[in-house]
Formats: sequence, structure tokens, C-alpha cells
Amino acid sequence: MSVTAIVGAQWGDEGKGKITHLLSPSFDAVIRFQGGSNAGHTVKTGGQTFKFHLLPSGILYDGKVCILAAGVVVDPATLSAEINTLIEMGCFRGKLILSADAHIVTPYHKLLDSLEEKRMGDCAIGTTGHGIGPAYADKYLRIGIRVGDLLDPPVLKRKLKYAIESKNAVLTGLYGAEPVDPEEQYEIISKSSESLVPYIENTTPIIRDYMAEGKNLLLEGAQGTLLDIDYGTYPYVTSSHPVTAGGCLGTGISPLKIKRVIAVSKAYTTRVGNGSFPTEQLNSIGETMREAGKEYGTTTGRKRRCGWLDLVLLKYAILINGATEIALTKVDVLNEFETIKVCTSYMYKGGRIEEVDMDDAILAQCTPIYEEIPGWSTDISEVADFGGVPRNLAEYISFIEDRTGIPVSLVSTGPDKSQTLVKDVQPEKLPAF
Ligand code: GDP
Ligand code: IMO
Ligand code: MG
Repeated sequence: MSVTAIVGAQWGDEGKGKITHLLSPSFDAVIRFQGGSNAGHTVKTGGQTFKFHLLPSGILYDGKVCILAAGVVVDPATLSAEINTLIEMGCFRGKLILSADAHIVTPYHKLLDSLEEKRMGDCAIGTTGHGIGPAYADKYLRIGIRVGDLLDPPVLKRKLKYAIESKNAVLTGLYGAEPVDPEEQYEIISKSSESLVPYIENTTPIIRDYMAEGKNLLLEGAQGTLLDIDYGTYPYVTSSHPVTAGGCLGTGISPLKIKRVIAVSKAYTTRVGNGSFPTEQLNSIGETMREAGKEYGTTTGRKRRCGWLDLVLLKYAILINGATEIALTKVDVLNEFETIKVCTSYMYKGGRIEEVDMDDAILAQCTPIYEEIPGWSTDISEVADFGGVPRNLAEYISFIEDRTGIPVSLVSTGPDKSQTLVKDVQPEKLPAF
């Protein structure tokens, strides 16, 4: 039995979906443990493109158990639509299990998300508008609606009545909006959840039994370390824990069982939404990255902000996650650059620092110090194995390994599943976890 976690090492969109899909065949179950439909995980395989928001990226494989665990917030309408689209494509092949303990995102959560963003004006977070913050807030206020409540109409009605009473006070009093009607919300929620009922189970004992049976489990993180509610660039973060520890909390798996943690990082950096971004390139470099990397959000279509790889932040992410290895993605996007810059330290308050307190206001005062590495100026999208990569790319990877202290085990050279180079990882090179 082993548990492997795949986590985003940056601000999301690192290519977690691709890596999860790629590795899924070696695992008995693939588990999403946090976040909701704010995630957009793209998988390209066999000439088809799939964009998953809630479904785990293992769902394309026959019979693969795919779990949405307790830590996820589920928008029933989005999940139903995602399942239907896959069924229509003839690609809904996995076995989905939806935790009765997961919380649901309701229409009023989405409404509150957008009204709060408007109210905040210049200070807005730049959320995906998927109701994530309000849904997690209700969970912690203990007025959330759980997936299991969908199975008990009187309980669902009662919980909605109490939750909506307080929401309406805010909707009308703070935002000057129309109140929502509990009956109407009940109708919308029950209708959009109808088709989900067969998938609802208590996933904690299921996961526990899998572990007892010696099964291999793959945790699929959403978002990224720097968006973590506690360990990210607060307040410009999401409302969950995308880090490895979130995988334990969101599933009930003991931290001692996670043996491998794959930190997924782009060969450069992107960010959607507001907040500090020391290596951001608001110039032709950033534009080249955006065009070459098609850096437009999977969930909202927004332009992703682009900049050089930041090893100060990557090293932080490796520590927070206990990462044992890196999956380096979108390396091909740097093909065009004659010189590649990597931020290895910052200037902060007149001094040079290699570690930073993760605080948005502090990051805003950091000026990156770069080291330069010669580019490879070659199309690498057709390179078949790691031995065939240009020398300068091999050196770029060695540089990252030396500075972070962990191996790069996977190198992604294009969006398709086939465009992935596996680098031999000697077990002794993996740090003890
Ligand atoms: P996720 O949220 O971490 O799963 O990442 P997204 O799917 O939101 O964003 C990654 C984008 O890059 C998707 O459009 C992928 O198809 C694409 N992608 C993944 N790996 C590579 C790669 O190595 N090269 C290129 N050019 N695109 C990639
Ligand atoms: P995946 O799983 C990139 C960002 C939003 C915003 C902040 C808060 O595809 O990597 P939220 O809607 O969560 O309250 O928004 O977090 N964000 C993401 N950025 N990838 C994601 O998911 C994201 N999910 C949320 O842009 O800045
Ligand atoms: Mg994404």
C-alpha cells in the first residue's frame, strides 16, 4: 500500500491534471481532497481534450475508482454537467464515489462570491466566482450543507432555511441585493443533485479499507501551494489547503502513509487573479510565455499572468509539502528563449534573502535577483526520451535539482499525455519524508 500526492507547487495551473492522468494507471484509486469547481484540470490524450473541474483526472480509465473526498466542495450542477458531458462522449469510464461528508456549493454561495468581489473593488481577490470562499466559510460556521443532506429532503429544507436566513440579512443589508427564497433554492439544489445520488457514499471507511487491503492511492491536488489559505499569499488565496497536509485532512489518510509527494511546477511561473508576483514579466517576455503556453484560464478564460521561475517560492513549496520530487511542466514554452532567467534570491529591505516569510505584503516588496541560463532554442515537443533532450535543457533541470535538493522525475514537453519524459529517479536520491 502506498499513497502518492500530486500537488501544485505554484499558484495553480501547473499541469496537475496531465500528471495525474498520466500516473493514474499505476494506482487503484484517484482522490480529489480539496477545492471545488474553481479547479480546471486539462487532460489531452488520444486526440481529445478534457477539462475537469471536479471529476478526478483518472476518470477516463476503465473502472478506475475516482473519489471526491470529504474536503472537496461540490457544486452539484457543475458535477452533473461534467458527468453528462463525459457520458455523451462515451468517456465516463471510471467508478465515481462522492463523499457524503463533502460540502455543497449552492447558488447563493456563488451569488455571495460575486457580490463580495464587487464590494471589495480594487482590493478584490479575483476569485473564479465559483462560490468557493462562501461555501468553505459556511462549513466553518457550521451552517454548511453536506452532500449527505441531499439524501434527506426534510433535513435539507431545514438546514437551508437557517443558512438562508443569515445569508438574506447579508444580501439585503450589506449588498442591497434581493433576498433568496429558501424554497426556490431547495428546488434548484435538489433538481441539480438528482443524478448524483447513486454516487454518494461514506468515503472515509472506503479509503480506510483500501489502505488495509494494500491498495495504491493517488491524491490529486487542486490549486497550488501559494494559494493555500494558511501557507499562501494571504489574502490572495483560495479557501482550502492545496498542500500535502490538506490531502490528509480532506481524506482521513494518516500523514504517515504518504510516501511520495510530486510537486508539479511549470518551468516558469503563472498566476491568475490578484496578489504579489515578484518574477512577473509585464512585457514581451510575459506575452511570449502567454502565447507559447496558451496561458488562459481553464475555468474562467482569464489571461494568466506570466513570469520567470522563482526558486525562492519553489523551495518554500517543497518544504511545506514535503515534496520528494518535481514534475517540471511546460518546458517547451521556453523553447524560444535564448537566455532563461531563474530567480534564486530577492532583495528585501536593502538585503539579499533566499527565504521569505510568505506574506503578500512582504512579497510585494521583494525584487527578484536572477541567475541566467542559456536556452536550448530547439523544438523539444517530439523528444522521445530524457536522453534526447538538448544539453542546455538538461543543465536547466540539473540547476533546478541542485538548488531545490530534490530530483525532477518527470519532464513535460507538451500538453499531450505522450509528451512526457520520465527521468530515472534513484530511490536513494529521494529525501526521507
Ligand atoms: P492544472 O490546473 O494544474 O491541471 O493545469 P491546467 O490544465 O489548468 O493548465 C495547464 C495547461 O497547460 C493545460 O492547458 C494543459 O493542457 C497544458 N499543458 C500541460 N503540460 C504542458 C506542457 O508540458 N507543455 C505545454 N505546452 N502545455 C502543457
Ligand atoms: P487549478 O486546480 C489557478 C485562484 C483564483 C483567485 C484565488 C481565489 O486549476 O490549478 P477562488 O475562486 O478559489 O476563491 O479564487 O485562487 N484560483 C486558481 N488559480 N488555478 C486554480 O485551480 C485556481 N483556483 C483558484 O484565480 O486568485
Ligand atoms: Mg487549472
